[in-house]
Amino acid sequence: MKRDNFSGTFGVLVALAGSAIGLGNLWRFPYLVGTNGGAAFILIYLLFVFVLCLPILISEFLVGRRSQSNAVRAFTTLAPKSKWGIVGVLGVLGAIAILSFYSVVGGWTLNYAVKAISMDLLHTSEQVTDTFNSMVTSPFEPVIYMFLFLLLTAGVIIGGIKNGIERFSKIMMPILFVMIVMIAVRSVTLPGAGAGIEFLFKPDFSKVTFETLLVALGQAFFSLSIGCGAVLTYASYVKKSENIVKTSALTAFSDAIFAMIAGLAVMPAVFAFGVSPTEGPGLVFIILPEIFEQLPAGGFIAILFFFILLIAAVTSSISLMEVIVTYIIEEFRLSRKIAILVTLFIATILGTLCSLSQGVLSQIRIFGLNIFDFFDSLSANVLMTLGGLLLVLFVGWKLKKEDFMDEISNSGTLNHKILYGAIYFLIRYIAPIVILTIMIFGLI
Ligand code: TRP
Repeated sequence: MKRDNFSGTFGVLVALAGSAIGLGNLWRFPYLVGTNGGAAFILIYLLFVFVLCLPILISEFLVGRRSQSNAVRAFTTLAPKSKWGIVGVLGVLGAIAILSFYSVVGGWTLNYAVKAISMDLLHTSEQVTDTFNSMVTSPFEPVIYMFLFLLLTAGVIIGGIKNGIERFSKIMMPILFVMIVMIAVRSVTLPGAGAGIEFLFKPDFSKVTFETLLVALGQAFFSLSIGCGAVLTYASYVKKSENIVKTSALTAFSDAIFAMIAGLAVMPAVFAFGVSPTEGPGLVFIILPEIFEQLPAGGFIAILFFFILLIAAVTSSISLMEVIVTYIIEEFRLSRKIAILVTLFIATILGTLCSLSQGVLSQIRIFGLNIFDFFDSLSANVLMTLGGLLLVLFVGWKLKKEDFMDEISNSGTLNHKILYGAIYFLIRYIAPIVILTIMIFGLI
C-alpha cells in the first residue's frame, strides 16, 4: 500500500505547528501561568522548550521519518527483535488518554462558540460562573458537544494526510494567527493592562519549587505534542528531502510565540478588570466572558475568541486521532474509514466518562482524582514524560550514531556537523538526565 505524504515544507510546518498550538496554549498555559506565579514560570517553560523539548521533538521527528511507519512499528523497524516497541505502545495509549479529555474541553469550546454566536454568553459574573458550572456538570449537553467535536476531528482526517490534515491546517493556521493577534492588541490596550504585562514579564523566582519545574516540563511536553507519537506519526509522512532540524525549530518557535501571544491576550485583560489570575481551569471559560461583557463590541470579541479556541483545538485533536488511526490502519490492515470508526468508538466512550466525571460520576476517584483529572495527569505527568525519556534513550543509545547523522543530514546533503553533534549531545546526555531528575524529585 502506498503511503500518503505531506506535499512540502510549508504543509509539514503548518501541520506540526497546528498540532502543537492548541488548547494547551490558549486554555492550559494562561491558567498555569496564573496559578504558578507568572513570568518566572514562563522563563522556566521557555528554557525547557528550547533546551530539552526541542531535542526530543527532533528525536521523535527522526524516528518517524526514518521508519516511515506508525508509532509502534517505527521502533520495531529501527530495532528489530527488541522490546522498544513498548515506547510506541505507551504513545498510542497516551494519545487515547489525551484525546479523551481533550475532546471534552473541545466540546466545551464548541458549545461556547455556539453560545457566543447566539449571544447567550454575556451576563453578570455570577451568571457566567453558573453557565460554566451547569454546562460542564450536565449529563447531556457536554457529552453531545464532545461527540460533535470528535466528529469534526474525524471529518478532517477522513481526507488523509495531504487532502485532510495538510489542507485544513494550511487554511486555518494563518487565520488563527491573525485572530489571536487582534485579541492580544485589544487586551494590551485596555486601561490598566500594565499590571498584567508586568505579571507576564517581570519574574519573581522566590516562589519557584520543584512542583513548578514539573508543571512547566509537563506543559512544555503537552504544548509541543511530544512524547505521545503525534510528531512521530506526522513525521512518518514527511519526505526525505525536508530539513528535520529547521522544521522542528520553527515548530517549537511558533508554539512558544503563540503561547506568549495567548498570554498577552488573556492576562492584561484579567488584571485590567481586577480579577485574580489564579482561577485555574475555568479561567478562559469563566473570566473571559465576564470581561468580554464589559467591552465595547464584546459580543463580537467573544465569538472571535471561542472560534480561535475551536480552530486551535481541532488542528491539535487531528494529530492525536491520527496517531491511533495510522496505528490501526497499518497493524490491523483496516481501511482509513473503519480505523476512524473504531477510534471514534473508543474516544467516545472514554470521553463520555471524562465528561461525566465533572458531574454525575464525580464520586469515582482514581488516586484521589476524578476520571478527567486522572487522564490529564496520567498523560502529562507519566505517559508523555516517560515516553519522552525512553525516546531520547532510544535515539541516543540504541540507534546507531551513523544512522542518526544520516537521517538528520538527509544522507549527507545537509552539512552542519557541529550543530548535529551538539543536538546529539543534548539527546544522549542532557535530556535524559534532566528529565529523570525532575521526574524523581517531582514524585517525592
Ligand atoms: N499540543 C496540543 C495543545 O497544546 C495538544 C496535543 C496535540 C498533544 N497532540 C498531542 C499533546 C500529542 C500531546 C501529544 O493543545
